[in-house]
Amino acid sequence: MRVGVLTSGGDAPGMNTFIERFFRLCKKNNIEVFAVRKGFQGLIDDEIDVLEEKEVKNIGHLGGSALKCFRSEEFKTSKGFKKAVANVFKHQIDVLIGIGGNGTFVGLEHLSKAGVSVIAVPATIDNDLFFSEHSLGFDTALNNAVEAIDKIKQTMDSAGRAFAVEVMGRECSSLAVNSFLAANGDFLITSDVPFCYDTLKKQIKLALKQNKDFAPVVIVQENCVKIFDLVKDLQNDLDIEFRANILGYVQRGGSPSVFDRIFALKLAVYCLSLLKDGKKNRAIGEKCNVVFDCGIDEVEDLTRKIDNNLINFLQN
Ligand code: F6P
Repeated sequence: MRVGVLTSGGDAPGMNTFIERFFRLCKKNNIEVFAVRKGFQGLIDDEIDVLEEKEVKNIGHLGGSALKCFRSEEFKTSKGFKKAVANVFKHQIDVLIGIGGNGTFVGLEHLSKAGVSVIAVPATIDNDLFFSEHSLGFDTALNNAVEAIDKIKQTMDSAGRAFAVEVMGRECSSLAVNSFLAANGDFLITSDVPFCYDTLKKQIKLALKQNKDFAPVVIVQENCVKIFDLVKDLQNDLDIEFRANILGYVQRGGSPSVFDRIFALKLAVYCLSLLKDGKKNRAIGEKCNVVFDCGIDEVEDLTRKIDNNLINFLQN
């Protein structure tokens, strides 16, 4: 059997762990693995070759993706898409394994409709593949964010300063909500609740009345507010020192956490079992610690349930 592997979209810690483990399992089972480099763009540009053991040996503890992880606009055009499909057939790839987030899953679903056999593996720091409780990389990114917030808190606390931190997540609040809970934030701004500046100002004012030394920690999901304008306004209106930090790509890099490494291994084992059973056009997910699969066209676009009661209780 000839299997192609690609990583696509934003890279996520744990992708390399999956690649290393999956390669080893395939080798034991006489499955030939082909590297598709630079995601769907590599399919279009025919950057497809046999994956060598030396390339994947001892990469499991590294962030990023050894296969390179691109976003491809060309793949969304019919010309680019047709080239991609033709190259899969040219290399006689029996099954294409795609590791990535939402966009990757959609791309794979389109390929499956064009006759390419696919398996989708969830990997995105945003954790926005709602059919699965976890995606590879989320736990690492969350730990990275919380570690950074803890550090900022120490220096801000010494100076008696308030601060706001922007975390990633695109349109999904998972990273922001869980950073807020784990880093003991005071206020949370996410896409789940429309933001009201006056309410936030009132809440901080009230807290300051009760404790004049209160220096709030505000966790902000990206794309919700302009964080530098927000702290400027709060500083002016409340007469307290406020600083802003955008955590950015530091969240996405670094060694995968223990959780992500073990999760990657479970996904690799499951993926091999699908191949051995001849199951195709499947998406792999995880719920309550159990890995499962469903049709790539059955991946539900559910909103992740946020514990709003808990958040409201903490903010008031
Ligand atoms: O999807 C992962 C992610 O890191 C998002 O949280 C963020 O909005 C986006 O990627 C950034 O995209 P890019 O790497 O293309 O700048």
